[in-house]
Order: sequence, then C-alpha cells, then structure tokens
Amino acid sequence: MQVDGRALLTFCSNDYLGLAHHPEIAVAMQEGIARWGVGAGAAHLVNGHFSPHDQLEHALADWLQVERALLFSTGYMANLAVVGGLMGRGDTVIADRLNHASLVDAAQLSGAKLLRYRHTDVADARRQLERASGTRMILTDGVFSMDGDVAPLAALMSLAEEFDAWLVVDDAHGFGVWGEAGRGSLSALGLVSSGVPAYLIQVGTLGKAFGTAGAFVAGAAQPIEVLLQRARSYLFTTAQPPALACATLGSLDLVRTGDARRANLMARVSQFRSELERIGVPQGGGLAAEPMSSPLVQDPHSLALMPSMTPIQPIWVGDSLRALVLAQRLEQRGILVPAIRPPTVPVGSARLRVTLSAGHSSEQVMQLVSALQTSLSQDVLDGHHGA
Ligand SMILES: Cc1ncc(COP(=O)(O)O)c(C=O)c1O
Repeated sequence: MQVDGRALLTFCSNDYLGLAHHPEIAVAMQEGIARWGVGAGAAHLVNGHFSPHDQLEHALADWLQVERALLFSTGYMANLAVVGGLMGRGDTVIADRLNHASLVDAAQLSGAKLLRYRHTDVADARRQLERASGTRMILTDGVFSMDGDVAPLAALMSLAEEFDAWLVVDDAHGFGVWGEAGRGSLSALGLVSSGVPAYLIQVGTLGKAFGTAGAFVAGAAQPIEVLLQRARSYLFTTAQPPALACATLGSLDLVRTGDARRANLMARVSQFRSELERIGVPQGGGLAAEPMSSPLVQDPHSLALMPSMTPIQPIWVGDSLRALVLAQRLEQRGILVPAIRPPTVPVGSARLRVTLSAGHSSEQVMQLVSALQTSLSQDVLDGHHGA
C-alpha cells in the first residue's frame, strides 16, 4: 500500500485469498456495470432485486448445500437481520463473550434477553441455556475476528439440538479460508458433511476472503423466508449494486476452486508461527478466555503469539500504549500491522493483529518477522513502554 507517499507492506487486510484485486473479478464487475448499471435503485422487495442477485443467492445456497441464501449489503446488517428477524422480547440469545461487535449489537437491538458465556466455554453456554426462556438462539463467531481461534462448533451443535435452539455461526473469517471448496469452519471440522441441520444458520461476509463486499445468510428455507419478510435491515435498505453480485459470482468460482490459494495461505501461517518461535516469541495459550487473569498481564515485558491456526495471527501485548508503540516501530520499518485496543477487544488485552493472505510471499513474511524481531528487541531495551 502507498500511505502518504510511502510504500508499506500490509498485514492488516481480511482479503485472505488475495482476490480483492483479481483481474477476473474486476472484469466481472465492469461487465456487470455495462449490463445492469451502477446502482440497484431500491430495496430488494421494491424493484432492487436483479437477476445477478438471484443467481448469486442460488449459487451460494448450492455451494453450502443449504435450501436458501439471502444477500445483504453488509455483514453488520446480515447479523442485525438474523437476530432481529428471528428473536424478540421474551426470547433469549446466548452469546460468546468475544463475539464480533455486530453480533453484540444485533442481540441488544433484538429486544431479546442477552446471556453471555465465557469465551468458547461450552459448560458455561449450557448453564446460560438452562437459565434461558422463550425461543433460544446460540450466537457465535466461527473464527473469532480478533483472536483467530475457532468456536467449539461440534459441542454448540449438540447443545442446540438438546435445547431446541437456533445456532447462528458468523463465519466471516472462515468462509473461503478453509473447509471443502472453502465452505468454512463447519466444513473444515467435518460437521456438515452429511447435511446442514435445520437449526443451523450461517452468516458469511463477502468483503473478506471473497474480496468483494456484502454478505449472506444461509440455511433452511423457512427461517430465510422469515428474514426476507421481517428483517428490517433487509427490508428498509437499498439492495447492493447488481454489478457487485456479478463480481461475487466470479469470486465464488475462485473460492470454490481455490485449494492452491488455501494451501499457500496455510503455508504462510505455519511459516509465520515457526519463525516467531525461532526468534523467541512465546506462544500463549487461552489468553483470550480471561485476559485479566493471564499471568502475562502481570509482566509488562511479556508478549505472546496467540493460539490460532487461522490467517488471523494476533500477538498479545496487553498494554494499549505498548501495542501502539510497537505498531509505530513496525511502520517505521515499512510494515503496516494494526494495534487493536479496547473497545474492539477487552481492556488490558491490546494486541498486534497480524493477518496473512495467500497474496503474501514467503519473503514478505520474512520481512515482517525481521521487522518484528528488531522492534521487539528495542522494546525490551527501552523498558516496558518503549517511550
Ligand atoms: C465476524 C464478523 N462479522 C461481521 C462483520 C461485519 O461485516 P461487514 O464488514 O460486511 O459489515 C465483520 C467485520 O467486518 C466480522 O469480522
């Protein structure tokens, strides 16, 4: 990227497969504009629903082997729709404490009671389900956006069955990245190989591995029809441009057939983790679960590579100022990595959120590692905050 005239190597984007600049997708969008114009002009249920939207919804449903998929303009709006459309006063949403902000907002806006369970703690989720009343919905990220770890999806599916609850998995960071044909975390864990159960609703965003923009909700025909009829963030907003759906149809093809890209991405992930081990960065376990009780928080010199096998590879720093200083040092060395601080993550759990892409070369990962090594050694020399 060029930032203020300086070339920076970036490790911040969610463009995991490197598709955002893919020429075939750009051409699909240009052809879509030539055929359909620039804007949809109205909401889907008025006259904003065009053939490419319809084709994309069918293609997404076919890819995920579900009855129906519904397109949204953003992932934030898709999440508002799922929770607000299916839940209301008297119902209970049971949510992982580290869920993405859009899921938290969705639960709060729905009017349902919100019970949060400790991060990835299935026993705690069960306790909350036992306390719940009305319709129950378990709400979780598939891959956690700021932590890179994966929800205990098999156990949550069992809980959903046992308690007759909806299970909503926002796999914004899993789709395209792993699973058969890029079908995401549930597929990667072998949980949908013999079909997708009716209680399971998947949310995917298209601005990440797909490299375009927008989102979808996929599941059984009945809840999807309810969303189409009732969800306010579907009804009361202009449909995404049809040309964007043309672009996403192109990227869905590349996602489906993207095994080589996925292999390349996973090779970068392994490389990054083993290189950090080589330069002496410890690997921290379970830090995200209870950040404030982590022994690392007690030691301001400490930092750790968080446990993640996904392209989200956060380096736990703890203190916000120190995270900022480290990010600045990396930037001085030509590397852009964001310092993620509260309120995006809990207080005391600031981190450098490194994201890797199939578009990165192994040399570029080495550049990052060497910049990290120098920035970290300077950090130790300067004392806690490297002022
Ligand atoms: C887990 C998760 N869900 C939803 C969203 C929102 O998606 P969008 O950017 O399309 O609104 C994001 C990030 O953008 C995310 O990380």
